[in-house]
Amino acid sequence: MTPPAAPVRVIAVASGKGGVGKTSVSVNLAMSLLNAGQRTLLLDTDLGLANIDVMLGLSPRFTLADVFAGRCELRDTVMEGPRGLWVVPAASGKRHMTELSPQQHVGLVHAFSELDLPIDTMVVDNAAGIADGVLTFCQAAQDVIVVVCDEPASVTDAYALIKVLNRERGVNRVQVLANQVQHPAEGRQLFEKLERVTSRFLDVTLGYLGAIPRDEWLRRSIQRQEAVVEAFPSAPSSVAFRDIARRAGQWQSPQGPRGHVEFFIERLVSPNARSATA
Ligand SMILES: Nc1ncnc2c1ncn2[C@@H]1O[C@H](COP(=O)(O)OP(=O)(O)OP(=O)(O)O)[C@@H](O)[C@H]1O
Ligand SMILES: [Mg+2]
Repeated sequence: MTPPAAPVRVIAVASGKGGVGKTSVSVNLAMSLLNAGQRTLLLDTDLGLANIDVMLGLSPRFTLADVFAGRCELRDTVMEGPRGLWVVPAASGKRHMTELSPQQHVGLVHAFSELDLPIDTMVVDNAAGIADGVLTFCQAAQDVIVVVCDEPASVTDAYALIKVLNRERGVNRVQVLANQVQHPAEGRQLFEKLERVTSRFLDVTLGYLGAIPRDEWLRRSIQRQEAVVEAFPSAPSSVAFRDIARRAGQWQSPQGPRGHVEFFIERLVSPNARSATA
């Protein structure tokens, strides 16, 4: 029998618009949490355009797509990344999470509950937009980080995502992270812009998680297929990522006895679980 696991904190990273930096944030947040002593699993759910494995220079033998196709068990997909980061890769060009049947979701429940990994935190990188799969993963997580950058479409699409999460999925707390900012004040301004509309029209509390500067070192680290916090620890973006991980580590811990990864998956298959347990 496995010992009762401590609550697993699940953090979902999403954005309305594509290309704003979700995967970069997920990878570097996960590495920073790991370096701060949290046993961390990074889950790539973007079956359309997977790239966590590429960003970390990993060569997956099996991916989530193989799990859904019945070719392997979930545990076969878990890879050991840098410094012992656990990574579950998706698969590029494969079908999207939205196409998964309820049976496949249930299959994922069983697969995750059989997964016997000692983890404290799970970071979930999502596809862009408001597809059903994205909403479901955000709903299932305890914390949702919405990444925005200073482009009109980014803020509008972030609002659209928060709106549907709030109205359709009952999410009432969202952390906003500004990425690619040119100066620190820009992040706060973006947050305030978003908060002005959410506070008027939605029943959701936004938190300002901070800002990641636009940083050439981050681009270079992607070319080197490493997290910037590993490749260039003193780069401006690395400093910001560590700061954000520290803040994320101070969020209120998941409550109650539920807290196995299985719980995350249970929330996925049972849309009412959130309101029942919150
Ligand atoms: N802070 C930053 N400084 C400089 N460049 C950045 C920064 N964040 C992201 N980028 C650039 O933006 C590109 C896209 O980032 P990333 O892949 O993380 O976005 P994404 O939101 O995951 O995209 P998608 O929606 O396609 O999944 C990166 O390849 C990188 O070149
Ligand atoms: Mg991405």
